[in-house]
Amino acid sequence: AIEAKIADIVSRMTLEEKVGQMSMGSWSATFDESEIDRGLIGAMANMPDAATMAKFQARARAARRGIPLIFARDIIHGYRTLFPVPLGLAASFDERVWETAAELTGREAGAQGVNLAFGPMIDISRDPRWGRVVEGPGEDPFLARGFAAASVRGLAKAGLGATLKHFVGYGAVRAGRDYAEADLSTPLLRDVYLAPFKAGLEAGAPVIMAAFNALNGVPLPANRRMLTDLLKTEWGFDGFVISDWDSVRELLNHGVAGNGAQAAERAVMAGLDMEIAGHFFRDNLPELVRSGRVPMTRIDDAVTRILRTKFRLGLYDPAETRRDPDATQAEAALARPETRAAARDLARRSIVLLKNRDEILPLAKTTKRIAVIGAAARDASDHMGAWGALGLRTDAPVVYEELKRRVGPTTTLTYAEGCDDECTETGGFNRAVATAEKADLVIAVLGEPWFMTAESTSRTRIGLPNHQQALFDRLARTGKPIVLVVFAGRPMVLTEAASKARAVLYAFSPGTMGGPALVDILMGEANPSARLPMTMPRHLGQVPLAYDDLPTGRPKGLDEDDDLWSRYIDEENTPLYPFGWGLSYSRFAYTDLTLGAPTLGRGDTLVAEASVTNRSDRAGREIVQLYVHQRVATRSRPLRQLKAIAVVDLASRETKRVRLTVPVAELGFHDDDGAYRIEPGTFDVYVGGSSLARLSGAVTLLGE
Ligand code: IFM
Repeated sequence: AIEAKIADIVSRMTLEEKVGQMSMGSWSATFDESEIDRGLIGAMANMPDAATMAKFQARARAARRGIPLIFARDIIHGYRTLFPVPLGLAASFDERVWETAAELTGREAGAQGVNLAFGPMIDISRDPRWGRVVEGPGEDPFLARGFAAASVRGLAKAGLGATLKHFVGYGAVRAGRDYAEADLSTPLLRDVYLAPFKAGLEAGAPVIMAAFNALNGVPLPANRRMLTDLLKTEWGFDGFVISDWDSVRELLNHGVAGNGAQAAERAVMAGLDMEIAGHFFRDNLPELVRSGRVPMTRIDDAVTRILRTKFRLGLYDPAETRRDPDATQAEAALARPETRAAARDLARRSIVLLKNRDEILPLAKTTKRIAVIGAAARDASDHMGAWGALGLRTDAPVVYEELKRRVGPTTTLTYAEGCDDECTETGGFNRAVATAEKADLVIAVLGEPWFMTAESTSRTRIGLPNHQQALFDRLARTGKPIVLVVFAGRPMVLTEAASKARAVLYAFSPGTMGGPALVDILMGEANPSARLPMTMPRHLGQVPLAYDDLPTGRPKGLDEDDDLWSRYIDEENTPLYPFGWGLSYSRFAYTDLTLGAPTLGRGDTLVAEASVTNRSDRAGREIVQLYVHQRVATRSRPLRQLKAIAVVDLASRETKRVRLTVPVAELGFHDDDGAYRIEPGTFDVYVGGSSLARLSGAVTLLGE
């Protein structure tokens, strides 16, 4: 019935009205409000407030066709209440965390009138030079699939649609430089980069955003193979594909269109259905249709997809039940105490304890004098992170103030900035050293200021920025024990600092409630459980880097006398901290791996069980990970691939038998022709607390 209604609406529309539906206006760019009244705009991006959205929606409904507007917004990790940045959320390794963050973000934004999120970003990223790694789930397709699906579900629970972005390969831009090209083989594209998009679509995402970059030489807004052949035809996607910001224009810069009309024609014929912020569709499509270069059927298809999405978003629901923006309700939905409490909990679950020598953390109550050093300790923006939406600095208690409020009466807390957020000056170093020297323990809060991550923030040096390493070295020379707290949007090269610090807490940008959450962890009121969603390199020269390497023909140790093996002559192959790594204040031990059956058939499920024991006196949460490796196949298979996760809470000294399952259907891979193959053979299975998991067994998948 809905399809018939849509067909009826489309049949009545003029060509200009149809092209209007294919255009998303931007609040920030100049735009003529009367286009709404004339039905020449289908959606609006990044609107400032509920009152303006309410006004615009009422005008759209009052226009001749009465087609409601979509209001889309970048709500990357929250709206007013900011959760940890996505890379931090990913570190929880827990889909309940991802779903909750998305739902609560959707509740705040939805109450304002936003009905479509520009997210989740599910670009796999293995190169920390790329500044946008902060916005996604990291390097692993299994984790990213879970992140995609949970985020879509969470947004849907709040009544919002998701835009899966950026389709596809944006995270593989050459040398980590934003907007550069990506070249991906078919197996890598399908097994790794496309996998989260498929998962997000299966979870019900109605919109896909075409990436800025070229993939295998063809910019995504003009990439018919990806947008039409794969997404719409092979996968059967019936929602709509939106451009990235004014990216139809960028086809001129890419050198695949010589003028605006060509750019619009290439994009629409490739399968792009809606243009954000630009005017290339509106300026060119009517004439392109009239001249026969673009068939009306393609325009009708795009408009049908857009209207279908509007029905799915509930915009055509009866007036009594639909949720048009309502300025009177909007404010009350923001920064509610329960949302802030959830933000604190999620932040606790996103902070990774990388190192804790001599169990220096949690802080001993007997520590008399603590020096906090670093501008970030008092900078709410660094806590909140990039893509701050409506986040308010005044909503975000900072780690230094929070510590001051909570340390016991016998502890004195002192502070020195060392250098400001950008750390381009060294003038404050002496004061910082003097402050450290008078303390028993130093908490150094360093890392990347928030503005060094997200769009167009690629870096060639991914260590502590500017003079921070020098500041850290001066602090280290005092001989005082140092707890290093790192705010960052990417895995940084911290080899030197991590070797000198007693403990390292990797906080990413933990969000509005990141300060209290960090103090919860520092003081032992929360026990860290997060794991690295991206490998941390030892050296910049190792990147791009991910844990799922294929074997080489010359691995180390194959022939002890031969020194021609796959290595660097000046650095280890191994990372500083591997994927999946993270410590707890508890100590977990793994024993007794059993694999359900020694052999499996195609329709079976691999079942692994292991005993996990908390050998400490402190309750904790363990992230149990299962990896596989197929020994022999027609293509080399990764040495390890994450295939299952279990989040397990263990009381002190408790043992639990943990069960992990992997359907055999998940054990295949794509070949050069894009076909998915599940090949018989023996699979090594590893279970443990990181990608270094040691407990192992093997199962054999039988042929037909
Ligand atoms: O959603 C974003 C995208 O990630 C980057 N360019 C702008 C879009 C809309 O604001």
